[in-house]
Parts: sequence; C-alpha cells; structure tokens
Amino acid sequence: MYRSHTCGELRESDINTKVTLSGWVQKTRDKGFVVWVDLRDRYGITQLVFDEDRTSSKLLEQARSLGREYVVQVTGEVIERTSKNPNIPTGGIEVLVEEVILLNKSKTPPFTIENETDGGEDLRMKYRYLDIRRNPVKNNLIFRSKVSMEVRKYLSDHSFVEVETPYLIKSTPEGARDFVVPSRMNEGQFYALPQSPQTFKQLLMVGGMDKYFQIVKCFRDEDLRADRQPEFTQIDCEMAFVEQEDILDTFEGLTKHLLKEIKGVEISAFPRITYDDAMRIYGNDKPDIRFGMEFGELNAVTQHKDFGVFNSAELVVGIAVPGGASYTRKELDALVNWVKRPQVGAKGMVYVKYNEDGSFKSTVDKFYDQEDLAKWAEITEAKPGDLICVLSGDANKTRTQLSALRMELAERLGLRNPNEFAPLWVIDFPLLELDEETGNYHAMHHPFTSPKPGQLELLETDPGAVRANAYDLVLNGNEIGGGSIRIHDREVQSTMFKHLGFTPEEAQAQFGFLMDAFQYGAPPHGGIAFGLDRLVSILGGQETIRDFIAFPKNNSGRDVMIDAPAAIDQEQLNELKLKLDIEA
Ligand code: AMO
Repeated sequence: MYRSHTCGELRESDINTKVTLSGWVQKTRDKGFVVWVDLRDRYGITQLVFDEDRTSSKLLEQARSLGREYVVQVTGEVIERTSKNPNIPTGGIEVLVEEVILLNKSKTPPFTIENETDGGEDLRMKYRYLDIRRNPVKNNLIFRSKVSMEVRKYLSDHSFVEVETPYLIKSTPEGARDFVVPSRMNEGQFYALPQSPQTFKQLLMVGGMDKYFQIVKCFRDEDLRADRQPEFTQIDCEMAFVEQEDILDTFEGLTKHLLKEIKGVEISAFPRITYDDAMRIYGNDKPDIRFGMEFGELNAVTQHKDFGVFNSAELVVGIAVPGGASYTRKELDALVNWVKRPQVGAKGMVYVKYNEDGSFKSTVDKFYDQEDLAKWAEITEAKPGDLICVLSGDANKTRTQLSALRMELAERLGLRNPNEFAPLWVIDFPLLELDEETGNYHAMHHPFTSPKPGQLELLETDPGAVRANAYDLVLNGNEIGGGSIRIHDREVQSTMFKHLGFTPEEAQAQFGFLMDAFQYGAPPHGGIAFGLDRLVSILGGQETIRDFIAFPKNNSGRDVMIDAPAAIDQEQLNELKLKLDIEA
C-alpha cells in the first residue's frame, strides 16, 4: 500500500494515528538537529519532521539527501505542530517519520514548482508535466473536469444522447482552413479533420436521434490568439422539431445550471440584442455588458460647424469614460497614441473633459461651443467628471476602433470584474457576409443556416440584407457559443449553395450526402455549439484558454513539449506517395 492518506487530508483529529503518505518533495529545511520536509501531492502539502531526539541519525541523513521533486513514501505518526501554519488545512499537524522509501529521484526542475513560478511560458510549456504539478494549472484542469461533468449531467437529464462522430472526414466549412490527413489506401486522397461535427449532427437528426450532444475536439487551421487554439473542444448540440426559441431556452438553462453549480451565481436575465443593435451600441458583435459606456452617435450635432474631419466622416461616435475628466495631459496624449497604434488604427481622437463644475474643455473648442458640447454629453450620457472620447471616419472601422477603446478603458478602470457574469444572446445575424477582397458573399455562420422566414426571396435582390435564424451566446464580452436553425429542405439548401458561388456540380460533389439525406424525411432542426475551453476559462475568471488546456499549442501552433509538428520519414512519405516540394 503506497498510502493510507493523501497529503491534503490530515487534521488535528488525526493526531497519534500511524499513517503512510506518498508524494513529491516540495522543499526541505535543515536546522541541523531537525529537518522538515514538505511532501506534496494533488491534494495538498503535509509537513514531515525528522529530528535527533526522536528519529535515528540514519533517517536524518536520508531526509537530508532528498532533493526537490524526489518521489517518496513515508510512514510515521501524526503529531501536533509546535508552530502551527493557519494558511494551509494541514497546518496544525506534522508527521514524525519512522520510515522513508525512495520511490524515484528527480533532476532539479528547470523552474520552481510554486504558485508563482520563476519559469517563463516557453519553459513551462516544454516541461508541461512539471507545470501541471503547480496549483494554478492543476486547479484549472480539475475545474475544467467539473464543468464538463455538470454539462453532461444537465444534458443527460434533458434527454440528450451523446454520440461520437468521426474525425477522419471531408471538409466542413466553418470558415477556417482544414487540417488534412493523407490516406495511404487511397492514393492522392486526403481526409480533413472536422472543424466541427456540423454535418454529422444534422445527419443524426435525419436519423431520428432527436437530441444529440458531444463533447468533441474540433480542428481549425487559423491564426491563433488568447481565445483560439488549433484544436479545441466544443459542447456540440443539436435538436429536432425545434424553433429558435426552444434552443435559446434549453441552452439558457444549461448556462444557468453551470453558473449556479460551478459559481453559486443565480442569473435570471438573459438579455437579447440584435446583431445590428450590438454593432450600433457597442461596435462589437460580442459586447461586454457588465458596464455601460454605450456609443453615442454624434453626426447630427457635429456636422454644422467648420470641423472638416467630422463633416467628411460617415460616422462620428463617442463614449463617456467615467471619471476621465481628471486625466492629465500626459495620460490623454497616451490615450490618443493608443488609438493610433496600428492594431487599433484610428487616425486621431477628439476628447472633451466634462468638468465637475459643469463646464466643458475640448480639443475642438475652436469649432464647438459649450452648448454644442453639452449635446455631446447628453447623447453619450456623460456626467460631470467624465471624459468624452470621440472617433470618426468610415462607419464600420470607426465602430471597431471605438469598441477596442471601450474594452481597453473598461479593463484599466477595473470594470471587467471576473466574478460578475453577464450573459447575452446576440440574435438576427446577417445570413451572408461580403468578402471585401473577392467581392463574393460567404455564409456568416455556415452554409446550413436558414434565412429568417419570408426572406429567401431577398437573397436574389439584396443578399446582404437577409437575416438568419442564427444566434451567439456571449458571456462577459466573449463569444462562448453559436448556432442556428438549419435548412432542412433540399431545394432551399441548393439555392443557398448557388448564392455562395457553388455550381450544382460542386455542391453535389461536396455536400451531396447531406442534400441526399434531406430527401428522406429530414425533420426541422437546429442547434448550437459552445466553446468548452472559452466557457471554462471565463467561468474560471480568465480569458486565456491555454491555461485551461492540459497540453496546449503555442502561438505558432507548435507543441514544444513533444516537438510537433515534425518532418516524417522518407519511407512514410513513399508509402503515402507524397513528394515534398520544399527546401530541407
Ligand atoms: P462556431 O464556429 O461558432 O460554430 O463555433 C462554436 C464555438 O466554438 C468556439 N470556438 C473556438 N474555441 C477555441 N478555439 C477556436 N479556434 C475556436 N473556434 C470556435 C467558440 C464558438 O462560439 N457548427 C457550428 C455550431 C452550430 O451551428 O451548431 C460551429 O462550430 O466559443
């Protein structure tokens, strides 16, 4: 028996008990006549004591020889500590060791296994198994497991059936590039790894499964960011005989369940906003509504004066920054430089201080008097003491820039409280999006999304105006899920492919299996997929999903621990009949 207890378990009520523990040596403190060793496992830390009076000199020597991260098994008696540590649950006791068995040695770890480590990101990723021994990473993985369990519980209780779908498939168009896998048995042909199980879950509905879910890996070859990994996990769901309202209701239920069970937070309101309003009010299709700073459009009150910049702008729009009137000149200059960074891209920024005495001081006092500026304050809902920041130019770009500023300022002002949860449904997304480069339309969600009732005809005349039965679930400014009601009629699906620029032959070749299935009694259906990594990290109060994934990839898509991707043998290439055309 390696252990009778874990290292996190023993309390003062266990005093005088003989115990066996196994774990890793966190640290040793040698005071000469007495040696203390902190022994750590997944559950906590227990202090071991060896001393001249009560243990043999051989044991004391053995204790001194233990290095950091050695794996040992010890047997001894639980005794009361003379100086107690109130900061840890086992701080009232220690174990007076009678026997030590060395289970394995360890090289000195390349970084300290502490909550705050001295290891940089790269080093921690290379030795991720050591990083996982640290509490912050370990706790995140345990937290993730708890969230997954609660998801399974809720969905099973609501009659969802978990069905696995294949990973070696044909391309599913979710808007990213595919990862492909060559087939040895089918020379010159490739599988694609699924960007999502979208078509399979629809086929399961045709198959009569009615309510499906799967906690499933998805693969997308796209540029990486804090909230994106090339392989990530979805809670993928689909239901038959449902309308949009049924889906929103069911998954509001799931989100409420998770917030309550995991965070102890009861949320009753799930506000809804249309895509158009989200863009107009927040400049963003995933607005963080934990704070205000809503956009105020100022065209009508700015374009009657001689200020050319505003007169020629498609949109003049501002936000009120709480308490911003007290910013110094230096801080304001820094803010203007911040919006001018290439990542944000504004040409400049006009600002107005709304002083506590009710007066205004702006960078455009030459053009606008106090009465004008009072109107700006009214529209942006600024209060005395606030700063009004105004950007102008092309409507879409300006909204995106002001949204970036809104999020940055909210972060700096501490308005993005990670312990507050503000879910929001964004509904009525456009069906199609214009690709500025090619001039073609592509599906904003995916090609299987149905247009709103009665809007099919609009596809011919004004494709950009067609709204979809598509929705996103936003939590604290992050898109945690997205879905739609699907097309289940073969004719409508082929019309859709036509508008997306597929010839009938191309549509048949790529998606014939789905359109064929629609001929055999496809029920009306719809669904949603949550990004599990994102959901878990936001519930955990963070926004970097890497910290909640056991073995994540770095920003270049590499696993630096196993050193993948890597070249393959010539023999393997020959077998696959692949010739590489790259310089070695
Ligand atoms: P969508 O593409 O919106 O929808 O994806 C669903 C959710 O998955 C998460 N997500 C990601 N998480 C981490 N890394 C990524 N690279 C990544 N890409 C997406 C997001 C997103 O909201 N088949 C449809 C769902 C449906 O229509 O039912 C789909 O995949 O949180």
